[in-house]
Amino acid sequence: MNANLINSAYLLAAVLFILGLKGLTSPRTAVRGNFLGALGMLLAVVATLVDRQIVSYELIVLGVAIGTVIGAIWAIKVQMTAMPQLVAAFNGFGGGASALVAGAAAMMPGAITGVPEIQVYVSSALSALIGSATLSGSLVAWAKLQGVLHWQPRGALLRFVSGGSVSAAIVFGTYYAIEPEAVWVFGALCAAALVYGLFLTVAVGGADMPVIIALLNSCSGLAAAATGFVLGNSVLIISGSLVGASGFILTQIMCKAMNRSLWDVLRGDLGEAAASASKEDLYTGRVKSTSPEEAALLFETARIVTIVPGYGMAVAQAQHAVRDLANLLESRGTEVRYAIHPVAGRMPGHMNVLLAEADVPYDRLYDMDTANPTFAETDVAIILGANDVVNPAARDEPGSPIFGMPILDVDKSQVVVVVKRSLSPGFAGIPNMLFTRDNTLMLFADAKKALQDLNREIRDI
Ligand code: TAP
Repeated sequence: MNANLINSAYLLAAVLFILGLKGLTSPRTAVRGNFLGALGMLLAVVATLVDRQIVSYELIVLGVAIGTVIGAIWAIKVQMTAMPQLVAAFNGFGGGASALVAGAAAMMPGAITGVPEIQVYVSSALSALIGSATLSGSLVAWAKLQGVLHWQPRGALLRFVSGGSVSAAIVFGTYYAIEPEAVWVFGALCAAALVYGLFLTVAVGGADMPVIIALLNSCSGLAAAATGFVLGNSVLIISGSLVGASGFILTQIMCKAMNRSLWDVLRGDLGEAAASASKEDLYTGRVKSTSPEEAALLFETARIVTIVPGYGMAVAQAQHAVRDLANLLESRGTEVRYAIHPVAGRMPGHMNVLLAEADVPYDRLYDMDTANPTFAETDVAIILGANDVVNPAARDEPGSPIFGMPILDVDKSQVVVVVKRSLSPGFAGIPNMLFTRDNTLMLFADAKKALQDLNREIRDI
């Protein structure tokens, strides 16, 4: 196949990836962006299949068939609330695949043409290091989020093992790049990197896990880019770099939204502070509860209502009931807004996806910076299964483990109605003194049930 034609196809695919990413920056253009990205990937795959020295099309078809079946079953069965685990697993398999492809290519002398040997061996060592660490780190992230792994070691031994394993991986990688005949060194490099990924992630606390998933996503892109250098495949280098850069930008955005430095996240010190704080019983005699009947009266007179969704809305699948409440209030002349915190729920954009599914118009969604100045004019703020993202301790208590994390200033509203099932803490595991404020009323119930009851009461007024 003509090299110019293939390179043009790769260039076009790269342009489509970039346009796709640009489209994904706004909900209005996201569907088109997704389509452009997928089209770019199709073009890249087809160009690769017709151009490269394919060993066996049969094996490729078999692999695609097995992968499609496993991926489809997994994606169909996964609960919306378990999406972060799924993303973590996908990142890990991407990293592992990159390491395996790079290793296999480097061990088949003559299979790769037109790429300098030194580039093949250095890049395959890099791919093995990053890809293996991404694989084990992602599997640990999956296990922690799935609730099957609760181990969170810290301290000198952890630092010794993770420092030792990454140093060993670098030494083995350097040795392999110099002596590529020594296949055992490649195996040792992968083993050391697997240990490093494991200990890097196992120390991370639950509340910081999304940051690590974004970081591992970035690493899976870097591993793919390194494999692109092994194979001399420009589109793999470009797409891997795009994933690497965008994952890292997302990591930074999330660190900022949680007020954590990446270093703090990797040390995993939030979990300890949170655990000690949650032992205190701060609520006794200081919490006022309400019922759907009482709360309905508040909404009847409200001019502006702000809905603040959180993880509990996702658990209860209450998004349609939320939309019904908004429609009902709007039909009575109330202005309804939605305030969305960047890390509400369990994955970036979690609330936006759920509300879009319930056909909530995008222009009613206020991001944190836009929403915060509007709480002073809000008559009723209704908090639906949100906890950490509305915890005033982040703003007011310098000793709090989440101090400095930007929050939604819901407590500045006239009245705050908090819908949740109990006084249990949220993801960060710390108490929330919002529940004891004079202007706060607790509506203890499953979010969907509470909203259905509330809607019925409002209709009956
Ligand atoms: P959280 O602080 O986790 O609080 C969720 C609350 O929902 C819980 O306190 C729980 O209280 C309540 N809840 C659970 N099921 C419910 C149901 N069926 N009906 C009503 N309420 C229910 O949630 P948040 O405010 O959205 O904050 C998100 C947290 O997760 C942050 O700490 C964030 O850092 C972290 N995180 C974020 C992400 C991303 S990227 N969004 C990913 C992973 C982790 P009850 O048990 O009393 O009902």
